[in-house]
Amino acid sequence: MAQLWGGRFTKETDRLVYNFNASVSFDQKFYRQDIRGSKAHVAMLTRQGILTEEEGRLITEGLDGILRDVENGTLEITDEYEDIHSFVEAVLTDRIGDAGKKLHTGRSRNDQVALDMKLYVRDEIDELDILLKTLLTELLAVMKKGAVVYMPGFTHLQKAQPVTLGHHVGAYFEMFRRDRGRLADIRKRMNTCPLGAGALAGTTYPLDRAYTAELLDFDEPTRNSMDSVSDRDYVIELLSALSTIMMHLSRFCEEIIIWNSNEYRFVEIDDTYSTGSSIMPQKKNPDIAELVRGKTGRVYGALMQMLTTMKGIPLAYNKDMQEDKEMTFDAIDTTKGCIALFTGMISSMHFRNDVMEQSAKNGFTNATDAADYLVNHGVPFRDAHSIVGRLVLMCIDKNISLDELPLEEYRTVSPVFEEDIYEAISMKTCVERRNTTGAPGPKAMAEEIEACEKYLQI
Ligand code: ARG
Repeated sequence: MAQLWGGRFTKETDRLVYNFNASVSFDQKFYRQDIRGSKAHVAMLTRQGILTEEEGRLITEGLDGILRDVENGTLEITDEYEDIHSFVEAVLTDRIGDAGKKLHTGRSRNDQVALDMKLYVRDEIDELDILLKTLLTELLAVMKKGAVVYMPGFTHLQKAQPVTLGHHVGAYFEMFRRDRGRLADIRKRMNTCPLGAGALAGTTYPLDRAYTAELLDFDEPTRNSMDSVSDRDYVIELLSALSTIMMHLSRFCEEIIIWNSNEYRFVEIDDTYSTGSSIMPQKKNPDIAELVRGKTGRVYGALMQMLTTMKGIPLAYNKDMQEDKEMTFDAIDTTKGCIALFTGMISSMHFRNDVMEQSAKNGFTNATDAADYLVNHGVPFRDAHSIVGRLVLMCIDKNISLDELPLEEYRTVSPVFEEDIYEAISMKTCVERRNTTGAPGPKAMAEEIEACEKYLQI
């Protein structure tokens, strides 16, 4: 049991208490950030004359050595230490002697852990951004390929109006674009450095907080020392953003599962992204999509845990806050894994364009356009709606589509119909004429694709 605080105790900590209190099993995940923060702290202490140049050099080299040895596997982080901070300090002192004991001058584990968590979250946001950008690039490729692939657009999971595959996927492009924006907002808001806040009330040493902030790529130091050590808003914001990403992935997965079903057959998930059944030889299951959908609950759970953990904590640091790590780490890893897996699934997925087009034709998705045809010939929209409703009924009765209904039948309901009705309700016309900004028509879609391309180039 290696502790940093034995001085005022006369008895050993109970073993169970020690284990319950320790966090090294999970906070070792940010050993890199911890060492990076310590190096900046030492650089500042040296610059301020609080440590001598020699002490600064010894400590910095010692920290570099620890980082190197942990990375190459020669130094193991074990549960002999209470947390990652204790581990680094103990090994340092062991290796370089008394100078190591000066590392913690003007610092508390409270501002240290606040810094480490911020550095970690910030690094992970950058990785998430790269993953999302790769996903968006993949989606844009499908948008381009699917720009003139007709498919039914749904409301209530009932065929509504024809759209294109490109347009449908474009909706998800928007969702993940917003997700990137959310992460960027969080990154900007959280980018202040808590180091130097001490345990809660700053310190009497002449620290240069602006300098450490600069060394660690923060915009500025945090403003209030009590808030600095007890702010976990950015963790909650991150978990909320991750939950939204997962919600978007889950919705898309749900669609893919439906599209991949025997009934729809709009897509076929590649063999490399499917799994079989141990008993039913014919099965090829969309497990990856289902797992992504399922793991969404896990990420929501982390958000709820963190909100609940924080809600009753008086200022400033309290040990409850150690609970900010495990589920957050899990949520980050889960989301990163899901984005990567989902991207692979989409890029290897086969889209059955012919089935989608056939489905759009069979579902009366052109009924609105048939009504619009009448309106263009002077029929009031309400009447047109009712006339086409009757035509749809006739088609259902005969088990045919509006395209297949003979002109004579059209004319029994309204004499306004002419031969050009077929042209007016063809899939091509239905989609091509929808060119308002954001619509599936080719002009609007070309503009959208160009805008997306530009966005991804930034
Ligand atoms: N392991 C602790 C945490 O994660 C580090 C801070 C400890 N501070 C303290 N005052 N006990 O929050």
